[in-house]
Amino acid sequence: MIFVTGGAGFIGSNFVLDWLAQSDEPVLNLDKLTYAGNLKNLVSLEGDARHLFVRGDIGDKELVLELLGRHKPRAILNFAAESHVDRSILGPGEFIQTNINGTFGLLEAARAYRSELPESAKNAFRFLHVSTDEVYGTLGPNDPPFSETTAYAPNSPYSASKAASDHLVRAYHHTYGMPVLTTNCSNNYGPYQFPEKLIPLVISNALAGQPLPVYGDGQQVRDWLYVSDHCAAIRRVLEAGKPGETYNVGGWNEMANLDVVHTLCGILDREAPRAGGSYRELVTFVADRPGHDRRYAIDARKLERELGWRPAETFETGILKTVRWYLGNQEWVRDVQSGAYQDWIAQNYRDRE
Ligand code: NAD
Ligand code: TYD
Repeated sequence: MIFVTGGAGFIGSNFVLDWLAQSDEPVLNLDKLTYAGNLKNLVSLEGDARHLFVRGDIGDKELVLELLGRHKPRAILNFAAESHVDRSILGPGEFIQTNINGTFGLLEAARAYRSELPESAKNAFRFLHVSTDEVYGTLGPNDPPFSETTAYAPNSPYSASKAASDHLVRAYHHTYGMPVLTTNCSNNYGPYQFPEKLIPLVISNALAGQPLPVYGDGQQVRDWLYVSDHCAAIRRVLEAGKPGETYNVGGWNEMANLDVVHTLCGILDREAPRAGGSYRELVTFVADRPGHDRRYAIDARKLERELGWRPAETFETGILKTVRWYLGNQEWVRDVQSGAYQDWIAQNYRDRE
């Protein structure tokens, strides 16, 4: 079996669903169920013996060791993290705790577990760490995209904590011979993304007739990748990646935020027209994010050259699927927007007006 952490979050739950749609190899899913974790993402697996869910913290070494000893997975895939940059600016503590200390605890448990395995299982074992392109910092308009050899220069507490975890993972390979794989991916979008991130926030605000908040001048550039393409890349790296290597994953799709928001408005104007005008009228420029990275871009040629991965979706196909998914799953959105979500929106947007 494989051991997935953070499998009730956005990318983790997509990964678990895609994995079990393609394979009968069971998944042990450890998730703390923070505000970002949602078991409703996994309802289609209810009663499916191939999915075993455990609520817990990746930093709980005793729990992780017990799970590893009992289930003997051939690989750990670490998706669990605090993942939202704006939250890391307003409160970095949890990011240090989960992304750095948590990954450290998981690595320590993996090291102890692996040391007891027979030689063949020891060599076949993999620790795959899911990371972000944000560890590389920010690019100027004419800079080449991030490659696997670009120096780390993280700028937010989120990216700094992910960079620290990447370094720990690297060190466990170098020092202890742990067969690690690291993926550094660009911005994902798709079903089950928590509506604090740009794309689902804009869709849900638009449908509610609320302002669509664009930070600063909206000309910050991100590379967008449909989540199932990211999941396919992770499966491929797990299958054929070389231990100790890192792989950049990206969509070859750089876009300015304002263009993303306008694209969403255009699709919504067709799919769910608004009485009285275009959704574009709701676009509102608000105060910028402190330390806002201007541009991310990914050179994903290594993954294509060495492992034959390329994204299957274009932004046009992926974003249409995404909008339709949110239109068809308004109850899921309402559900995650209850309770503490409102406090977050009030806190993050109050001072930007
Ligand atoms: P998410 O915030 O949607 O989900 C994170 C999940 O981890 C949640 O289910 C949460 O409950 C769980 N979790 C948090 N702390 C935990 C802990 N201490 N122990 C166990 N579980 C814990 O995040 P996401 O967008 O799905 O991102 C998943 C991973 O991919 C992260 O490591 C993130 O850095 C990375 N990543 C995300 C993106 C993106 O665009 N979303 C891009 C590249 C890389
Ligand atoms: P986000 O989805 O938070 O991802 P990340 O910060 O990890 O790239 O934000 C994507 C971009 O959209 C980023 O440049 C910040 C911007 N943004 C807005 O302009 N308005 C918003 O309300 C949010 C949440 C993000």
